[in-house]
Amino acid sequence: RSAVLKSTSELLRRSRRGYSSSATPERKVAILGAAGGIGQPLALLMKINPLVSSLSLFDIAGTPGVAADVSHINSPALVKGFMGDDQLGEALEGSDVVIIPAGVPRKPGMTRDDLFNINAGIVKGLCTAIAKHCPNALVNMISNPVNSTVPIAAEVFKKAGTYDEKKLFGVTTLDVVRAKTFYAGKAGLPVSEVNVPVVGGHAGITILPLFSQATPASNSLSQEDIVALTKRTQDGGTEVVEAKAGKGSATLSMAYAGAVFADACLKGLNGVPDVVECSYVQSTVTELPFFASKLQRGHFNSG
Ligand code: NAI
Repeated sequence: RSAVLKSTSELLRRSRRGYSSSATPERKVAILGAAGGIGQPLALLMKINPLVSSLSLFDIAGTPGVAADVSHINSPALVKGFMGDDQLGEALEGSDVVIIPAGVPRKPGMTRDDLFNINAGIVKGLCTAIAKHCPNALVNMISNPVNSTVPIAAEVFKKAGTYDEKKLFGVTTLDVVRAKTFYAGKAGLPVSEVNVPVVGGHAGITILPLFSQATPASNSLSQEDIVALTKRTQDGGTEVVEAKAGKGSATLSMAYAGAVFADACLKGLNGVPDVVECSYVQSTVTELPFFASKLQRGHFNSG
């Protein structure tokens, strides 16, 4: 009987604290653009991530429905929906990780640069609020063109005096996810064991998958295969845009990739060693001010 009482009180204690293990620190994740094509499946994936204790879903419209829906899933994260600019501050307050998939996606025939005018303004507004309400959060930028929205975010944070280059990430994980899938398929390797670093940026020819550094190495691929795999990885987004024929760009695979990257950030914050992901960040690897490369300790563990 005392064992039952003990485990009941432990359960109550955990549920009051809102997370499943007393060893796991509480972590709040905010998604800005949570009612969109990426935002909704990303909200689902973050709700079932055991490292998340509080999940804040913000959008200019539609978040009450998404939040109510996702909140019924029996995982520990407490879900709250926020809608409209006057609720943005509350949505962000205390966030450890902020994921930004807010903004318009591509239609067939558009490049990511065509999104600049609209998305630059959206990102600027959201980052101004981040600087005010959760200046220490790790920011995961998904909104395109990532090659430009990340430098814009950096300028906003610099102006606010909150910029920390180790806390601002352009999410290029979908390029890595695609490179792994395409490489494993072509080389006949088990996809879950495959790793492919992808460096550079997140648009067309700036996406540089390094198949020469892929593991496990494959000696069955010809130079032509590598060229074709490189091109398919660079054009992966366009492949989806065209297949969706005017109904947007990658959302489900992007949500997966966004969830993988946010999980790496949470693990880094929690002190898990050896977390490695590629991301587009301020960089000294080349003469370019921002560059995607493999990140590890120092970025993910900067707290
Ligand atoms: P979507 O149009 O389905 O959703 C965007 C959401 O953002 C909408 O719910 C909209 O209401 C919301 N929104 C607009 N202004 C906002 C604001 N000021 N504050 C908060 N929310 C706001 O678009 P989707 O497909 O989800 O794509 C979102 C972005 O992600 C696009 O810019 C797209 O290009 C980008 N993307 C990035 C990828 C990457 O690999 N980094 C891959 C795929 C898409």
